[in-house]
Amino acid sequence: MRYDFDTVLDRRHTHSLKWDHCRSQFGLDDVIPMWVADMDFAAPPAVVEAVARRAAHGAYGYVLVPESFWESAIAWLRKRHGWVVDRRWLARSPGVVPALSLCVNAFTQPGDSVIVQTPVYYPFFRAVENNGRRLVRNPLVVVGGQYRMDLADLERKIDASTRLVILCSPHNPVGRVWTREELERFGEVCVRRDLVVLSDEIHMDLTLHGQRHVPLATISPDLAARTLACVAPSKTFNVAGLSMSLVIASNPALLARYTAQFDAAGLIIASLFGTVALEAAYRGGEEWLDQLLEYLAANVDFTDRFIRERIPSLRFVRPEGTYLALIDCRQLGMKQAELDDFFLRSAGVYFDSGPWFGDELAGFERINLACPRSTLTEALERIERAVRDRT
Ligand SMILES: Cc1ncc(COP(=O)(O)O)c(C=O)c1O
Repeated sequence: MRYDFDTVLDRRHTHSLKWDHCRSQFGLDDVIPMWVADMDFAAPPAVVEAVARRAAHGAYGYVLVPESFWESAIAWLRKRHGWVVDRRWLARSPGVVPALSLCVNAFTQPGDSVIVQTPVYYPFFRAVENNGRRLVRNPLVVVGGQYRMDLADLERKIDASTRLVILCSPHNPVGRVWTREELERFGEVCVRRDLVVLSDEIHMDLTLHGQRHVPLATISPDLAARTLACVAPSKTFNVAGLSMSLVIASNPALLARYTAQFDAAGLIIASLFGTVALEAAYRGGEEWLDQLLEYLAANVDFTDRFIRERIPSLRFVRPEGTYLALIDCRQLGMKQAELDDFFLRSAGVYFDSGPWFGDELAGFERINLACPRSTLTEALERIERAVRDRT
């Protein structure tokens, strides 16, 4: 079966954060939103049908999460990632963002420092700082045009108050799919310096152009013993609004500290539709995902070519994974507020502003490429016109 990623789904006035924000925030109706990380595609038919079937039942009471839910996740992780996970290593969270906060509380004390690799998904900052921990930045470096980890800097930033490092793998927003060798070297530091690693692998399924995701916990038993990973069907299958993600830790002590926080926060009852959607996606979404990945890879190639040929004052940073990518706009010579405003009001496209992810991205914007080709073309043509009219 061929799935359709070309048909435009009208998402306006659907309580969509992505599509309804620009009207409610700026009073602007004709803006193409290419910011927050959800996709303009319907979820796989297997998911839509399972949710519709359950919705038709009419009674939406408390959920008993079935064993088949966990089995579907275990089978998915093994098949797609070669990650052999035991049922006893798994727990739930309503989302990865809440899991980050629970883990910061579980593995650190107030005043401890937590290391993040900037520029990075900005809720990492809030998970640390809103819980009274000290945020320590270990910036990525650009080597030969590619973002890399700076492990010498990481070593220097670790002190007696450092308990936890948060890894983003694949990395949002720089789009790196970390290689086994990179993860091994990173892991070696974490083991030697006795850190717990919170590994946000929410983008694990979204690797492009033949890249492969390596789950951090599969690198070595030593590393697995200090890793708690977060995964989810939310980005992969566009079900973020259904609130369901998973936490994986083979070390029972780590998992117990997480579940103690989870229980204390009163999160025990699961989302009904999240429960239904996770299992339907992991059991019936694989063929759809394979085709989605082809479509996203073609969107990356299309954007890369369009910007090179038609908007050469911008530079596209090709992602290896995720459907998010950076655009280097420094050649336009605008201050960030002016740049953000230019895209929003002159071009009519809305991006995540680079510095939200860290000061390293001054002069950058993050674009979300998970939309039909026609929407992407329209957005790029709008930018082309606005840049041309400006000069
Ligand atoms: C790295 C990363 N973690 C977590 C999330 C969001 O997770 P959730 O919606 O499950 O809270 C995102 C969404 O963009 C993300 O990019």
